[in-house]
Amino acid sequence: MTSQTATRLQPTLRSRLDEARNRTDAIFGLLPPNSFYDRPIPERHRLIFYLGHLEAFDWNLLAGPLGLTSSNPAFDKLFAFGIDPVGGGLPGDSPRDWPDIALVEKYNQHVRETLDRRLGRPGVFESSALPSADRTLLNVAIEHRLMHAETLAYLLHNLPVERKLPQPGPSAGPRPTPKQRPVMVPAGLARLGQSREAGNFGWDNEFETDEVFVPAFSVDVFPVSNGQYLEFIEGGGYEDATLWTAEDWEWKRRQGLDHPHFWVRAGRSGVAHAGTHWQYRAMFGTIPLPESWPVYVSQAEAAAYARWAGKKLPTEAQWHRAAYGTPQGAERSFPWGEDPPETARGNFHHQNWEPSAVDGHPAGASAFGVHDLLGNGWEWTSSVFGPLPGFQAFPFYPGYSANFFDGKHFVMKGGSQRTDLCMLRRPFRNWFQPHYPYVYAKFRCVED
Ligand SMILES: [Fe+2]
Repeated sequence: MTSQTATRLQPTLRSRLDEARNRTDAIFGLLPPNSFYDRPIPERHRLIFYLGHLEAFDWNLLAGPLGLTSSNPAFDKLFAFGIDPVGGGLPGDSPRDWPDIALVEKYNQHVRETLDRRLGRPGVFESSALPSADRTLLNVAIEHRLMHAETLAYLLHNLPVERKLPQPGPSAGPRPTPKQRPVMVPAGLARLGQSREAGNFGWDNEFETDEVFVPAFSVDVFPVSNGQYLEFIEGGGYEDATLWTAEDWEWKRRQGLDHPHFWVRAGRSGVAHAGTHWQYRAMFGTIPLPESWPVYVSQAEAAAYARWAGKKLPTEAQWHRAAYGTPQGAERSFPWGEDPPETARGNFHHQNWEPSAVDGHPAGASAFGVHDLLGNGWEWTSSVFGPLPGFQAFPFYPGYSANFFDGKHFVMKGGSQRTDLCMLRRPFRNWFQPHYPYVYAKFRCVED
């Protein structure tokens, strides 16, 4: 491919920014005005914050380098940062503490118009004409927004259906629990991260590279399905303290948790789980539990399941090797090879609101035959989120990763049905607290 062809095929930063804005606008378009002051997840801000945050973030990032002066420093500050309280502290603000939607929309419109006017100078958005530092800033703005398109989906998932504008309901055909089996991965190197020298965009935590030797291990061919997880529940997994760390057990007890956050008990209730009918709480309605879909759980629940099964959660390096390694030793760009992601390979890029069967994308399998690695839910690892060797924080956003190198967040790999294509790149790392059950996060087990 000539470089000219490559430039033509590459979506420009301009069109990517427009597309990202369309994604988040569409999500806010699912809300009636009176829902903007709801707080669907106790550990997060009210929805009105996110309406202002996306534009405030872009403004705070780009206005300085573009030589622009703010017309609303108070909003720039109010909407600057999200929250992730560690250790149980929850925000206590009230709806009255937030401005009217109309004022936030006016601010958003002004920010977009001002930035676009400055960025609209001929050639500014063409990758080849832009200094690499500016390309980094625009990529940060675009991916930050696309990450919020996904985390907004978690938030809206937790909003009662009647607080959203009506949409077609969810559906899932009756498909049995796929038969789980172990896949052997031979010993070899996992090449984590990416090198700055290559000149590709990545967040600070993706740099530099790290080669990790991974001894042979076996890994579940599919993520753990709802049907498999049901056996853990019916086997008393939530009542057996020996399966949980003391901290996880205490959290589970405090929360009164005895099933995945996305499940709803229907029919018979009480202590005995056998005979209970379970439903799945989808974005726009509740359906009988689809047994073939991956189970979405917190890392604490995933780890308890793994202990019950006599297995473990994979380390980041094990997951990486199962996904990208090959018998020949070289690594692939994607589990299936070098072709760019498309719908047959997995459930990602905003295709669906819900997951799909764990065995539904055989064309996405890795060289070792492991299925459903990219999309359909992030995958928990047992690795604490930390810097790769050679880590340097972005000077314009020093806390993006470093604020979470606290031993209290764990790496997730892969991607969900709401993860944009651009974040399906191999070095991309996601992270969450082990006691955060709202993420589209699945898991699979390994044996050393
Ligand atoms: Fe943000």
